Amino acid sequence: MLVVMAKKTTRTSSTAQVTSDSDAPLTVPGLPTETGHAVADALQMRVHALNDLALTLKHAHWNVVGPHFIGVHEMLDPQIDGVRDMVDTLAERMSTLGVAPNGLAGALVAARSWDDYDLHRADTAAHLAALDLVYSGVIEDHRAAIEAVGDDPVTEDILIGQTADLEQFQWFVRAHLQGTSGALVTEGATAELSAARKASRKR
Ligand SMILES: [Fe+2]
Repeated sequence: MLVVMAKKTTRTSSTAQVTSDSDAPLTVPGLPTETGHAVADALQMRVHALNDLALTLKHAHWNVVGPHFIGVHEMLDPQIDGVRDMVDTLAERMSTLGVAPNGLAGALVAARSWDDYDLHRADTAAHLAALDLVYSGVIEDHRAAIEAVGDDPVTEDILIGQTADLEQFQWFVRAHLQGTSGALVTEGATAELSAARKASRKR
């Protein structure tokens, strides 16, 4: 019987570096290294926020119920795909600028300033009302990030394009919550649960 023994490998250098989260000693041409890295650092929280948004939208896609289920369920998937593309674009921009992006769940939870989405199984109006507030938070912070990366118009342009798309996604959500006057049925609500209750009552 032929027995093939796995060959043991021994690390030859105890100082061999296999991983690093430190910045690369470079950035894109035409920008001072420090500036490029500062711009990339500003994108990390947008990566976390958009990763969280994609998870939240999928959670709503799975947990929405009620007579208008299929319209809302199917509306959300293209939004999720769009948001995931945005995460990829920003994370790759960070790498391009010389900073390692962090896409891990633990880092996201440790860094974020917001709580998990408040709804589980709920009707379409409730989820739409809560998602409207989720979008408002992400869009406001994206606009602030546009200001923060002002030293790099290329990154600024990426964030401006993403903000336009996020605003359109929010319009799709909001159109379900508007009457013919254009006012939101959730007007004045600042928390996901109270917005959800207001919208549910109107049904
Ligand atoms: Fe699905």
